[in-house]
Amino acid sequence: MRVAGLIRIVAFIFTLVALWVFLRSYISFSRKTIRLPRWLGVPSKEIRTPKTKCGLSKPCLDNFFAFKISSGAANVVGPSMCFENEIIMSPVRNNVGRGLNIALVNGTTGQVLRKGSFDMYSGEPKLLMNFLEEIPDSTLVLVASYDDPGTKMNDKIRMIFSNMGSSYANQLGFRDSWVFLGAKDLKNKSPFEQFLKNNPETNKYEGWPELLELEGCVPRKVF
Ligand SMILES: *[C@@H]1O[C@H](CO)[C@@H](O)[C@H](O)[C@H]1NC(C)=O
Repeated sequence: MRVAGLIRIVAFIFTLVALWVFLRSYISFSRKTIRLPRWLGVPSKEIRTPKTKCGLSKPCLDNFFAFKISSGAANVVGPSMCFENEIIMSPVRNNVGRGLNIALVNGTTGQVLRKGSFDMYSGEPKLLMNFLEEIPDSTLVLVASYDDPGTKMNDKIRMIFSNMGSSYANQLGFRDSWVFLGAKDLKNKSPFEQFLKNNPETNKYEGWPELLELEGCVPRKVF
C-alpha cells in the first residue's frame, strides 16, 4: 500500500545517507593516518619494519648511539625524541610540553637518566637552570623546542647550552625552532644542531617556522 511504499523510500534514503556518512569519515580517517606520521617524522612503514634504529637513513656503527630529534610543529604537534630505537619523549608518551624538552642520557651506557619539559613562555626559568646545573659530566643532552623556547631564556641558560656545544643558544628567541644534541662540558661545538629563526617572511606556519629534524650517530663516550 501507500504507507509500505513510503517506508521503503525512507529506508532507502536512510541507507544512502548512512553510506555517505561512513565514506566521508573513512576517507578523512585514512587521510589523517597518512599525514600524522609524516608530521612526527616517523613514517609508519618504518615502525612496522625497522631497518635501522630510529628509522635513520643509514645504520650506525657499533660504538655509536642512533638518535633522531624532531621539534614541535607550530603549537599543534609536540616534539619527539628517539634514542637507540626507543621513543623517549613524544606526544603519544604524553611527556612533552611547550618550551624546551630535554632528555639526559649516560654517554657511556646509553641509559636514559632524566627527562624534563620546561615552559619557556610563562614558566619559571629557575627550574630549567637547576635541571641543567645538576647534569653530571659527559652526559648527553638532547633538546627539542616546542611552540616558544625563547621568551624566558636568560644569559645564564644560554651560557650553559653554549658550554654543551650549542652554536645557536645565544640567539634563541620567541618561537624559534631548535633541535640539539650536546654533552655536559663539551669543549668543542656539537655537529648535531639545527636552528630556524621565527621570521614572518619565511615562516612555514602562520606565526612559526618549519619544524626541524635532526638525526645521526653519536659516538659512545667520546666527548
Ligand atoms: C654512566 O655509566 C657508567 C658505567 O655504568 C657509570 O660509571 C657512570 O657513573 C654513569 N654516569 C652517570 C652520570 O650516571
